Amino acid sequence: MDIWTLVRFGHLLGVTVWLGGMLFLGLIAVPAARATGDRTASRRLITDVAKRFGMLGGAAWVLILVTGAGLVSHRNVDFGTTYGHKIAAKMVLLVLVGVAVVLHGMWQGPRVRSADEAGDEVALARWKKIGAGLDAFMLLATLVALWIASSLIP
Ligand code: HEM
Repeated sequence: MDIWTLVRFGHLLGVTVWLGGMLFLGLIAVPAARATGDRTASRRLITDVAKRFGMLGGAAWVLILVTGAGLVSHRNVDFGTTYGHKIAAKMVLLVLVGVAVVLHGMWQGPRVRSADEAGDEVALARWKKIGAGLDAFMLLATLVALWIASSLIP
C-alpha cells in the first residue's frame, strides 16, 4: 500500500469525523436534548455531549491539518498556481474554524452557562445568538473548504 493513500485516507477521515460530528450535534443531539422539555437537564446533556465531541473534533481538526501539510509536501504544491491558491484557501478556512471553536468553547459557551444560572434571559438570548452564529460559521466554512477540495482538480 502507498503511504500517501494512507495519509489521504487520514485527511478524508478527519473531514468526515469533523463534519459528521458537527451535523450530528446540531441536527440530532441538541434538538433531541431540547425536546425533553427539562431545561436544566437538557443544558447539562448538551454541554456534556459538546465537551466529549470537543475532544474527538479537536483530534479530527489536527488530523486534517497534519495530513493536509503532508499532502502539500507530497504534491510539491506551488502556492502561485490556482491549485496552490485553493489549498491556501482551505488552510485559512481550517484556521478560522479553529479560532471559532476556541471562541465557542472558551468565550461564548461559559457566558451562556453563567447567564442561564443567573436567570438573565436577555443575556442568555444574546449569547445563544452569538453561539448560533459561530456554529453557522463553522459549518459554512467547512462546507466551503469541502467545495474547494472537490474542485481541486477538474
Ligand atoms: C476543513 C478543511 C479541509 C477540507 C474539508 C478538506 C478536504 C479535502 C478533500 C475532500 C480532498 C480530496 C480532493 C481530491 O482528491 O480531489 C482534499 C485533498 C487535499 N487537501 Fe484538504 N481539506 C481541508 C483542509 C486542508 C488543509 C488545511 C490542507 C493543507 C495544509 C489540505 C491539503 C490538501 C491537499 C494537498 C490535497 C490533495 C491530496 C492529493 O491529491 O494527493 N487540506 N482535501
